[in-house]
Amino acid sequence: HSENPLVIAIDGASGSGKSSTARGVAKRLGLAYLDTGAMYRAVTVAYLDSGVDGSDPAAVTAAVEAAQIEIATDPDDQWVRVNGRDVTDEIRSQRTSTHVSTVAVIPECRANLVARQRAIIESAPNGIVAEGRDITTVVAPDADVRLLLSADPEVRMARRKLDHGGQIDDAALRDQILRRDADDSTLVDFTTAADGVVHLDGSFMTLEQTIDAVVGLAERALARK
Ligand code: DC
Repeated sequence: HSENPLVIAIDGASGSGKSSTARGVAKRLGLAYLDTGAMYRAVTVAYLDSGVDGSDPAAVTAAVEAAQIEIATDPDDQWVRVNGRDVTDEIRSQRTSTHVSTVAVIPECRANLVARQRAIIESAPNGIVAEGRDITTVVAPDADVRLLLSADPEVRMARRKLDHGGQIDDAALRDQILRRDADDSTLVDFTTAADGVVHLDGSFMTLEQTIDAVVGLAERALARK
């Protein structure tokens, strides 16, 4: 337990490799790991379960604010519970993915999640790697390491295809990468690095090389602390 735990913030697009990188860095450095996208997904399950009208932002916000979320921060054991129910698999369903932007575009919902994310980051005794879209800019702008991880759309589509063992057609790939980019870009600008944020293009790097690069930044930040 250090007086001043290390905080690493990583933002990036869907398929940029930020989740694998963040988990890998957390394991290497013995830090906690927070997947903020999983929190957006979890409150989406809560609002869908509550049956409120998705076109009524006040009703969606009320459901989000009332949702009790518990989320694991162990990089080796990830799970999420909403109102006491395990939704680890359900947050990855097509239904959840389709509706998550309903929540993510509502400023009051974002503010509610940002507050919860800050509380989790502040209570991590040995430091944490947090990843999402607005971690370097909104959630933890004072983080010791702030990184924007990017990868070319063609590379992200090729990686996603590998994830599916090649069994996915090009239209579905374009939907998962290019349409998500377009939808997500309306939420926050996560494609240009803010002042003081390191931009790493991982298009032609392996996961191991990317993790090494972030660990190197973390070691330099630790030496400055
Ligand atoms: O990282 P992901 O694909 O699991 O994120 C799910 C959605 O949540 C994504 O469409 C954008 C949104 N999100 C966000 O707006 N801000 C974050 N910090 C993390 C995710």
